[in-house]
Amino acid sequence: MSQTIIEIQNLEKVYATGEEVKVRALKGVSLKIEQGTYVAIMGSSGSGKSTMLNLLGCLDRPSSGSYFLGGEDVATMNDDQLSIVRGKKIGFVFQSYNLIHQLTVIENIHVPLFYQGIDLNDCRKKCEDLAKLVGLGERMDHRPKQLSGGQQQRVAIARSLVNDPILLLADEPTGNLDSKTGTEILNLLDELNANGKTIVLVTHDDEVAERAHRVIVMKDGLIDKDTTRKPSSFLTGQPGQKLPLHA
Ligand SMILES: Nc1ncnc2c1ncn2[C@@H]1O[C@H](COP(=O)(O)OP(=O)(O)O)[C@@H](O)[C@H]1O
Ligand SMILES: [Mg+2]
Repeated sequence: MSQTIIEIQNLEKVYATGEEVKVRALKGVSLKIEQGTYVAIMGSSGSGKSTMLNLLGCLDRPSSGSYFLGGEDVATMNDDQLSIVRGKKIGFVFQSYNLIHQLTVIENIHVPLFYQGIDLNDCRKKCEDLAKLVGLGERMDHRPKQLSGGQQQRVAIARSLVNDPILLLADEPTGNLDSKTGTEILNLLDELNANGKTIVLVTHDDEVAERAHRVIVMKDGLIDKDTTRKPSSFLTGQPGQKLPLHA
């Protein structure tokens, strides 16, 4: 039996936009995600995908309902507690990479550990190993402007892994990339998942969702469809299988 990593019950999010106006962005969503799963969240614009990812990533708190992440009750935590959970348990990859332009590749990878008070000199090997893992072993001292979009997203993925997160969240990770480069990034995510990483990504691209084991379609603040593929049709092959990074 694999371990449940995400367990949410009746999750609601209401945005108060003015004196009177309230938007019920999530209307009572319940969901369990097992460790090692690769989940794609889809759905039309305004269906609640970003709200869901923000809640899963502890970037925001639900209005009601429960959320257990790795067995820990995070729905009732205050901002400081949530920021500690984010720093220790979650890796984020964004559509626009969100790298710091003044910093080198290796320094960007180090950022989450910097916020935990860990000096680069005390974790340099780990940051270098991650740069090599994403194929940037020769580019460690370059700055983001000297890299292509795909390479910048590789830095962002290495950065998302530096705190050994139990959960990797990605919001349209290939949205800014051409299709060949996007495929390379997806191959990298496949490899991370094949090595056990739990991944939840938001996408509107069917090709991206085809890589996932489970596709959750949101509609109007609720889960409309929740499909799990049979293992025989996993595109990522057997768990633990090494996939080529630059196929
Ligand atoms: N900060 C906010 N304040 C008010 N309404 C919001 C806010 N964020 C999202 N919404 C509303 O919540 C609903 C869901 O939005 P969102 O989660 O961004 O959907 P999606 O990512 O699927 O496009 C939409 O109606 C949107 O307008
Ligand atoms: Mg969105």
